[in-house]
Amino acid sequence: MKKMFLVVLLAVTVLGISGCTNTSNVFDFILDEDYTEFVTMATSADYPPYENIVQGEDGKNTVVGVDIEIAKAIAIALGKNLRVVHKGFDFLVEDVRDGKVDFIIAAMTPTPSRQLIIDFSDSYYSEETVSQVVLIHKDNVDLYQTIEDLNNASVRVGAQTGSIQAEFAEIFTPLATAKIIQDVNELFSNLDNDLIDALFTEGPVADAKINDGYSDFIKLELTTLEGYDGNAVGVQKGNTALLTVINQVIADLNEQGLIAEWLVTYSA
Ligand code: ARG
Repeated sequence: MKKMFLVVLLAVTVLGISGCTNTSNVFDFILDEDYTEFVTMATSADYPPYENIVQGEDGKNTVVGVDIEIAKAIAIALGKNLRVVHKGFDFLVEDVRDGKVDFIIAAMTPTPSRQLIIDFSDSYYSEETVSQVVLIHKDNVDLYQTIEDLNNASVRVGAQTGSIQAEFAEIFTPLATAKIIQDVNELFSNLDNDLIDALFTEGPVADAKINDGYSDFIKLELTTLEGYDGNAVGVQKGNTALLTVINQVIADLNEQGLIAEWLVTYSA
């Protein structure tokens, strides 16, 4: 028993010293050697240019993107290191509501129904709204020229579980066969492999993916709907202290033009 305890203790110590817990879904960023604490952010890292898992220079997986840069700036403003937890998008709102994490950033739109459960920061886009699109394969351009062409039971439309795009699929193509899937990477490969015919996603994500190997995909623009504007950071209801810091960080980053710059960097 004692031996067992020692082994566990040793494992914990080794992980602690290396300063980098990198089990598959947790990514630690030591932002300053003097910081003693971590702030924890959750995201669904399947969404470039916002958050994406890539191989780092050391060969290990890491998480990168606009939202990760924003999270680092928030952590620094709090004087803490950053822990990023990667999860299914549909878990994020409840996790921050329940206090399992301090905040969430996942290109999340502050919709009225989510605002009943958690509080949101200001949108971190200063001006432009995020465009909504439907992707189809270029082989099908003649078949699907408009969104209306997709509204047919024989058409399989994909969207991420718990996302506003899943709602759009229902609103715009109620007759189609919806394939609601948790992982956006899987949705893209399904479109590529003809397992779905169309994919509801957002403009910046479509562009990043088209730039990163999916050049056969074509965008159909979706008309924007009211109540689905912007992307914001989510915190537990009533956590105004944290929200004040986050809004200040967002204002500073936008004033320096950094968020716009990161969007370009991580879409390339
Ligand atoms: N903006 C959409 C929403 O709020 C989709 C966000 C998906 N984010 C992600 N990291 N997979 O529902």
